[in-house]
Amino acid sequence: MGAMTTETLTAIPSCGETCFLRHGEQLEALRSLLPSLDQGGPLLCWSAGCASGAEPLSLAMLLREAGRSGDRILATDSSAAELGAARAACYGDWTLRRVDEGRRARWFLPTGAGWRPVAELREMVEYRLHDLRSDPPPWGFDLVVCRNVLIYFDGAGALRALDRLLSAVRPGGLLLLGPVELPLARSLPAEPVRVGGATLLRRRLDA
Ligand SMILES: C[S@@+](CC[C@H](N)C(=O)[O-])C[C@H]1O[C@@H](n2cnc3c(N)ncnc32)[C@H](O)[C@@H]1O
Repeated sequence: MGAMTTETLTAIPSCGETCFLRHGEQLEALRSLLPSLDQGGPLLCWSAGCASGAEPLSLAMLLREAGRSGDRILATDSSAAELGAARAACYGDWTLRRVDEGRRARWFLPTGAGWRPVAELREMVEYRLHDLRSDPPPWGFDLVVCRNVLIYFDGAGALRALDRLLSAVRPGGLLLLGPVELPLARSLPAEPVRVGGATLLRRRLDA
């Protein structure tokens, strides 16, 4: 993020479908489950396959709107280009298409070339290169979010990645997958938690 000024920013095209507040029903479910993750300290979250950063920054927004502070989000992707866009943090209207006027005014600054999330959100997120197929997973997270990534893996690769993702969740923590990826997780040692139209997975305490 460093020395880049708002004058030099341009909205960088990236993973075309990613956007802020994607799968809103899942984020609402997560909002209601946040108290169940609270162990008295900051929450540690991992957004795996974060693309240009809209997903981890949406998590940051949700956590701040819930009145939390001090939470940290690790955001990883295997694409250096996506991480470059994430670190530049300047987004076009299409990426903000689900953000209403109130949130736009609260959480984004217009730069002339696009929209820049406020520092309060950006500072919660650390970006890192990480390949879900080959790199050892980080661990100890209260929440792991990996959506619309495993759809690009073959069946065996997706199952290996799911094992790694769940191993990154602390016992009792939550794993959030994309709606179409959820059926892949049937055999994981995790309990489905259904809220509204969304299902998250809670890692079993004995797993
Ligand atoms: C469709 S985007 C999803 C972005 C975001 N999770 C969302 O739901 O909006 C898929 C992302 O997964 C990343 N990806 C693909 N294969 C990966 C791998 N093996 N390890 C980590 N990230 C990967 C791509 O670079 C891309 O940024």
